[in-house]
Amino acid sequence: MSQKRPSQHGGSGQEVRAAAARALAPVLSDQGSLAGLDEHSVVARDRGLLKELCFGTCRRLPRLEALAGVLLKQPFKKRDSDVQALLLLGIYQLLYMRIPAHAAVGETAGAARLLNKEWATRVLNGCLRRLQRESEALQAQVDREESVALEHPPWLLNALRQAWPEQWRDIIEANNHPGPMTLRVNQRYNDREAYLGMLTEQGLSGHLCPHAPDAITLETPCDVTALPGFEEGHVSVQDEAAQLSAALLGPALAPRPGARVLDACCAPGGKTAHLLEQFDIALTAIDSDNQRLARVEDTLSRLGVEAVLEHADATQRDWWSGTPFDAILLDAPCSGTGVIRRHPDIKKLRRKDDIRPLAKLQRQLLDNLWPMLREGGTLLYATCSVLPEENSEQIEAFLARTPNAHVTTPSDVAWGIPSGAGRQLFPAQSSHDGFFYARLEKRTA
Ligand SMILES: C[S@@+](CC[C@H](N)C(=O)[O-])C[C@H]1O[C@@H](n2cnc3c(N)ncnc32)[C@H](O)[C@@H]1O
Repeated sequence: MSQKRPSQHGGSGQEVRAAAARALAPVLSDQGSLAGLDEHSVVARDRGLLKELCFGTCRRLPRLEALAGVLLKQPFKKRDSDVQALLLLGIYQLLYMRIPAHAAVGETAGAARLLNKEWATRVLNGCLRRLQRESEALQAQVDREESVALEHPPWLLNALRQAWPEQWRDIIEANNHPGPMTLRVNQRYNDREAYLGMLTEQGLSGHLCPHAPDAITLETPCDVTALPGFEEGHVSVQDEAAQLSAALLGPALAPRPGARVLDACCAPGGKTAHLLEQFDIALTAIDSDNQRLARVEDTLSRLGVEAVLEHADATQRDWWSGTPFDAILLDAPCSGTGVIRRHPDIKKLRRKDDIRPLAKLQRQLLDNLWPMLREGGTLLYATCSVLPEENSEQIEAFLARTPNAHVTTPSDVAWGIPSGAGRQLFPAQSSHDGFFYARLEKRTA
């Protein structure tokens, strides 16, 4: 994502809003995501605000867009998606942030100049002032539409309601709030009780998570550089649900030092690293995205652990030596509907039509990798989705066409709910993300 460098004169209210608009414009025009947000496009003291503006605006996008539609006499042209972004940012600040209204309006409208679109200053001023005057009436007007009031695209709202009649309201509520910051303590250095003590000494408070044995959730997120021993690999940031993969593979890996393990979709490497911290294994980690693979390399070198990393397509066999694996982790590409609170741009970028192709890719991955597993070996299927098509239905169909696949997903655990042959976790406020796990063993058919 190309973004301007901060000016030599330091940050200003307008600069940070212009930077946020530049980062949001590609999301609004379907040309990019927030993944590439360059925090260094503003001075250090504005970085938190930049993140809050971008992520918060995406989190509330369906409602902000509806309000923008009412406020504008006619929509901005496609090439002015940066100005549209400023309007959404302004509405977000007025309705959801504790920024004085005069600053929210003035600095946001003024930021149009930094985008070389001075003509938009008046329009933005006019729209935002009207919102100030008629806030309640305008909000009531747009909230008549349920998907607007609940801040989710209609297709997703329907899918969640249909799949999870009892849980969909809680899922939506969790999606609309930022997720907590959870740490994975590297047991090679400290147990988590000891690490919690180190955090307390540092003035950081947190609590032990109930399900993942290495996890601590912080009361308030902080910069990783404030975490004791972060650079030395004593701790990493990873959601509690994501940490369960190591526990689920434990019975297959702990008794077999040197086990041959494949992490088939490994980037950015959170689960790869956790497996290497916990088990003495020979790990091959592949991913089809070279840029993301580079992040795995950085993580492993920070932690001082090693794996064979390969840029490869897990729907193909050209990279495989032919020697079967003892265990395979398939953390499949998916809709990300369990982690919307961490990637709120999913609300804008993900479409109903994406789900079928994703399910097809997951099926291809399962079918291609299964023959690479030795008899008696374990495959752990994981997604950060809450949609049955990618989860329980996917595994049900796999079991129907794969007679030597037997379900070993544990039922005696306190997390998630049974869902077909797997377990489904839902995103929960101040707790873990949404995830699905199914554990399968290869037996004689
Ligand atoms: C859910 S993410 C994996 C997260 C990772 N396991 C972790 O814990 O950090 C899915 C990954 O699958 C990769 N991927 C997508 N299609 C693939 C394919 N055909 N072969 C290998 N990797 C693929 C994506 O690049 C992405 O990095």
